[in-house]
Amino acid sequence: MSHSAHSAHGPSEEQPDQASRIGVRLTNVTKRYGGKPVVDDISIDIRRGEFVTFLGPSGSGKTTTLSMIAGFTQVSEGGIQIHDRSVAAVPPHKRDIGMVFQNYALFPHRTVAGNVAFPLERRRIGKAERAKMVGDALAMVHMTDYAERTPSELSGGQQQRVALARALVYNPAVLLMDEPLGALDKKLRDWLQSEIKRIHLEVRSTFLYVTHDQEEALSLSDRIAVFNNGRIEQLGTPQELYESPSTLFVGTFVGDSTLVRGTGFTSVAGHSTGNAAGHRVAGRGTTPDSTAAVLIRPEKLALQSVGSALPTGHCGIPVTIRTATYLGNAWRYELRLPDGSTGMAKTDSEAPGAVPGSALTAVWDPANAVVLADDGGAGEFLT
Ligand SMILES: Nc1ncnc2c1ncn2[C@@H]1O[C@H](COP(=O)(O)OP(=O)(O)OP(=O)(O)O)[C@@H](O)[C@H]1O
Ligand SMILES: [Mg+2]
Repeated sequence: MSHSAHSAHGPSEEQPDQASRIGVRLTNVTKRYGGKPVVDDISIDIRRGEFVTFLGPSGSGKTTTLSMIAGFTQVSEGGIQIHDRSVAAVPPHKRDIGMVFQNYALFPHRTVAGNVAFPLERRRIGKAERAKMVGDALAMVHMTDYAERTPSELSGGQQQRVALARALVYNPAVLLMDEPLGALDKKLRDWLQSEIKRIHLEVRSTFLYVTHDQEEALSLSDRIAVFNNGRIEQLGTPQELYESPSTLFVGTFVGDSTLVRGTGFTSVAGHSTGNAAGHRVAGRGTTPDSTAAVLIRPEKLALQSVGSALPTGHCGIPVTIRTATYLGNAWRYELRLPDGSTGMAKTDSEAPGAVPGSALTAVWDPANAVVLADDGGAGEFLT
């Protein structure tokens, strides 16, 4: 943990080391329903101003965790801090948070400006100041020209921008967003993603974002917490998760990959004992005789003809091409491996002979692959 003890308790307004200040801190947070933990002993430190995304499959505990931070769901165990304050006894409307959900219904009979003004009225902010704050918030989401319309006169994307303005208008310490773009089409999502990024840079609040879309998580976040079964499997930057996943689940959930599975990996550096991939790297979490998987990202996998020799020190596996797709700046090949699983290779130029149905050898440098304990955690994402 990078936080020093004094920054956790000290008068942090004058703290020169901005990066060490707490945005949101969860300490051993558990939520049980009927005795069964759906959030299981989660601890996480989010810095002030950071953009952190909770990423994970359906039912993994993302919304429950966000809801405990908001105060709508009581924790079973553990503590939550927002900035320097424990919020155990603080009701939702006093936690200094803003919220945007997938279908955060706007008030249908209020205008856009009236919707955005609502939280300010509740906070008894005077009329003149209110008008200015509403104007600023609408400008931030580029909705100034729509101020007098009602929600039914807006598109879905415009409504979400108004919801965003309403959540940010009182400048909350933390903005919580649960799949805010889930109901929108792809083009609008992409555009609003970049808008949310820009707004984060502008307001510099702590942003906590929930999605099950890994591309969205990679493009938005400073750091991503990967949820699985009520636990955080890994917390890291997009680059760390992509290049150094610590579990098979994380490696396969974040980004495309090819998995070569085998047994007999050893943790003795520089040696391997007869595994399927002929790999020479000892993996994290592998022990002698444990089952291991080699994970290779698409851009680290090359294709060559079956007869030709492997480059020195490289590994290879026979594959069949399932599909070949021209992407403009690259080619993408879906592969079938001998064990029946699918993989992916991405090359800058067209790979000779790589047409659907053809047999080739997929080749990689072990230095560019990650060896992970194979606990079966990737199963549901294969094929
Ligand atoms: N009020 C409740 N009572 C009982 N179980 C609940 C309750 N709320 C949530 N759960 C269970 O807790 C687990 C986690 O749910 P949660 O909504 O946090 O998942 P999620 O990661 O947000 O999933 P999704 O991506 O589908 O939104 C699920 O198995 C869910 O059924
Ligand atoms: Mg959810």
